[in-house]
Amino acid sequence: MSERQQFTTRFGAVAAAVGSAVGLGNIWRFPYEAGVQGGSAFILVYILFVCILGIPVITAEFIIGRHSGCNVYGTFRRLKASPLWRSIGFISILSSIMILSFYSVVAGWTLKYLINSITHFGQHHSQAALHEQFGGFIASWQAVLYTLLVLLINYLILNRGVQKGIERMSNIMMPLLFLLLIVFSIHSLTLPGAAQGIEFLFRPDFSAINSNVMLAAMGQAFFSLSIGLGCLITYSSYFSQRERLLPSAVTIAGLDTLVAVLAGVIIFPAVFSFGESPAAGPKLVFEVLPAIFGAMNGGAVWSIFFFALLLLASLTSTISMGEISIAFFAEEMHLKRKSATALVIGICALFGTLCALSFGPLSAITLGGKSIFDLFDFGSSNILLPLGGILISLFAGWVLGRKVVSKELSGVPRFVISLLLICLRFIAPVLIALVFISGL
Ligand code: PHE
Repeated sequence: MSERQQFTTRFGAVAAAVGSAVGLGNIWRFPYEAGVQGGSAFILVYILFVCILGIPVITAEFIIGRHSGCNVYGTFRRLKASPLWRSIGFISILSSIMILSFYSVVAGWTLKYLINSITHFGQHHSQAALHEQFGGFIASWQAVLYTLLVLLINYLILNRGVQKGIERMSNIMMPLLFLLLIVFSIHSLTLPGAAQGIEFLFRPDFSAINSNVMLAAMGQAFFSLSIGLGCLITYSSYFSQRERLLPSAVTIAGLDTLVAVLAGVIIFPAVFSFGESPAAGPKLVFEVLPAIFGAMNGGAVWSIFFFALLLLASLTSTISMGEISIAFFAEEMHLKRKSATALVIGICALFGTLCALSFGPLSAITLGGKSIFDLFDFGSSNILLPLGGILISLFAGWVLGRKVVSKELSGVPRFVISLLLICLRFIAPVLIALVFISGL
């Protein structure tokens, strides 16, 4: 096999991992979840979970990935792990393909709204018209077309490999994304009535914390940080020895949370300023925001910026999902990278089409009241990710243990390593098991 690629710079490695974490989960899902779950209470609990669950599991994935220098399945084969641990590899591949399939559908909606913002520049629609538009679009064959377009873009990037594809694209897109976010936040804060939105986000209201809020926040943390499906195992297998794993894990968790909170800062002042409801759910970004843009000074331009931002963020996430299986097929099944990429994108195109159609022609196909899209979302996020997360924590904590963890985290004080091991061996598996059980 040819020499395995690595990320060329530390910036590139961190940008790629942040790119994976920052996505629709932050800008689309986090604000609507926070809106539905009562704002500040949800955010408080969310941040708590990022610290006690997110950072340890990210670090565990990094340790496993760099230690083995291999794809998710090969990792456990190479470390001579028993079949129980090797199942992590299968869970990873299955869940990454499932997530990429339904995620591409929402990324496709984003692409459509970006194109609409450009072609229908400056046109205003009532809330009712926007509602009808969105409902009509997601139920049509057009939605399939946009899903496939998103997957095609992924193919073109992933085909170029780790350095020329993933790293180069992350190096360009991530700074651009942060720049857009900052400009947006400043603009949103200057809207009349912005204070109400900020209060909704930040005024601590402990009374609103209940078990539902806690579970929603934990599931969101998993999805948003891209943990539990070996995505960060795959990326860190391309890390060099220079990479300092714990600081990188903290940076990724910190930036991911910052982006989610900034998305809230962008969206809620606008929502309150224009008298909309913060609890609109999944359509918050596709129905409520366009209504706001329509009524805003220069809204047509902001609309283009916003959907461009969302599309950028989703692409850096989708390529990380694709890479998990591409690395597997290329290294374990000895396919050429081109063929491995075509195979993975092809499978996702098939499943993605089914997910897209489940809002329209296939909406009658349900299981337990869930559509195909919901089943892919639920099956991966609520079943496979937690299962993967538990196994990954236990594997790093008990099987690799103190020796490997200390070696991979050289320079980190002993007590921090002990703390991390306690988290991985006991706290994380138990907490995750709670989400898992409630998710079922
Ligand atoms: N973390 C991404 C987001 O917030 C989604 C994702 C999940 C990416 C799993 C990779 C793996 O949108």
